[in-house]
Amino acid sequence: MPPMAVEFKEVHKIYPDGNIALRGVSFSIEMGEIHGLLGENGAGKTTLMRILYGEIKPTKGTIKILGHVAKFSGPWDAIKAGIGMVYQHFSLVGGFTVAENLILSALPLGISAQEVLRRAKESMKETGLKVPLDEKVDSLPVGVRQRVEIVKALVRNARILILDEPTSVLTPIEVRDLFEVLRKLREAGLTILFITHKLKEVKAITDKVTVLRKGQVMGTRRTKEVSELELARMMVGREVLFSLERSSAKPGSPLLEVKDLWVRSDSGLPAVKGVSFSVRSGEILGIAGVQGNGQKELVEAISGIRIPEKGIIRLKGEDITYLTNSEVYKMGLAYIPDMRSMGLVMDMDLVNNLLLTRLEEFSPKGIIRWGKAVKETESVIKLFNVVAGSVKTQIRRLSGGNQQKFLLGREIAREPDVIIASEPTHGLDVGATEYVRNKIIELRDSGKAVLLISTDLDEIMQLSDRLAVMYEGELIAQGPASEFDLEKIGLLMGGVKVGKS
Ligand SMILES: Nc1ncnc2c1ncn2[C@@H]1O[C@H](COP(=O)(O)OP(=O)(O)O)[C@@H](O)[C@H]1O
Ligand SMILES: [Mg+2]
Repeated sequence: MPPMAVEFKEVHKIYPDGNIALRGVSFSIEMGEIHGLLGENGAGKTTLMRILYGEIKPTKGTIKILGHVAKFSGPWDAIKAGIGMVYQHFSLVGGFTVAENLILSALPLGISAQEVLRRAKESMKETGLKVPLDEKVDSLPVGVRQRVEIVKALVRNARILILDEPTSVLTPIEVRDLFEVLRKLREAGLTILFITHKLKEVKAITDKVTVLRKGQVMGTRRTKEVSELELARMMVGREVLFSLERSSAKPGSPLLEVKDLWVRSDSGLPAVKGVSFSVRSGEILGIAGVQGNGQKELVEAISGIRIPEKGIIRLKGEDITYLTNSEVYKMGLAYIPDMRSMGLVMDMDLVNNLLLTRLEEFSPKGIIRWGKAVKETESVIKLFNVVAGSVKTQIRRLSGGNQQKFLLGREIAREPDVIIASEPTHGLDVGATEYVRNKIIELRDSGKAVLLISTDLDEIMQLSDRLAVMYEGELIAQGPASEFDLEKIGLLMGGVKVGKS
């Protein structure tokens, strides 16, 4: 019997900051198959691939490549062992031509320029991959750059190819072309590891699939023998941590309305595609979805950070589509991001962090009224149970939970009418999570409109009165929360439309 292409045995990874990403992962990949690795955000997919590619070391466990135990001290060892990686964010030199990039990337392996070009042309012929060798990488669309990455791996003689969420940067036509190429590569005997969170892609292209959840393998199946429903269950099934006390919503008039909104991402691709919804006073609209499906661009457009391409955004009936962030803010919108992102400046104290978003309130004539700002900071600390030495304490000295409570307090104390909460409990412990979620329910009960955007399904299920799932820039389902269960959301998150929506 031929050896397995890859065997993972009891692979553990604890990051230096204590994050446990992999908890004893074991499974095998046969030679010549397209093997899907399916899992939600944070399941550990990228971590496992980085270990396989020699970028990081496992805390424990072994990996065998073609029957031999791999001891990689860096990606070059992995490349020499026949592994190729197609990065999500590409690693090409923009100012160089494709040929130059290929030559450069094979240099450390001692492959001559002539040989590189010969191999490139040969593998293009064999697989139908087309890349313009003499064009500068800068001028190429993303889909073509991705093909260059694949040719690069082939030139280096890769036998096992890793693609980490390769379709996230592609248009539908490019996806179809990529799948065609992958099938040809399989015919040519390559083994392919295809990482995705999309159920349809698993069904369309893989022979087998392994599902990863919270750093553990939930199972490996032949793709033909497993339904999308079963995969969705394996991907998201979980026990809810705690349940929250809540009464049913008593919604009033719409405070935030979005109509046929289109927004482009930084790379110029459409990221939000014709999204419409409204959030009424006294209700929470939860938007579920895997990260990177347009949520970021949607939030940025509403809060005036990103200019939409077309569509209308109304706040309390007024058109805010093209207003700036601070204008929207003044009109009563608040934004609560996750504490790890840009919401707070770690080196500054609490007062200055309060002023970060509320400077205008406390400097009516351009001069900061420190006394008032300190009073307000003290009041936020008290009202939101923030454990902090004093208003002069640096934010970084607070625990994550207290940082987030402070951020929440800073935004809510302004009495906004519409609150956008984006991953509001990401990274928080159970106690702080419960606190923040309860506060969000209180906000709703006091008549605010809350737009909750979260990749955490427990959070979405616990808080939403109405629910929608965002997938590839569209809201593919929208309705009362009672019409959704975990399985249905799991399927929708993977791009499978269920029932009527
Ligand atoms: N460099 C890092 N340092 C600390 N934690 C990390 C790092 N990279 C990823 N993680 C954490 O490890 C877990 C798995 O992440 P990742 O492998 O990126 O998952 P996936 O690719 O499935 O979304 C997550 O909880 C993530 O926050
Ligand atoms: Mg990943």
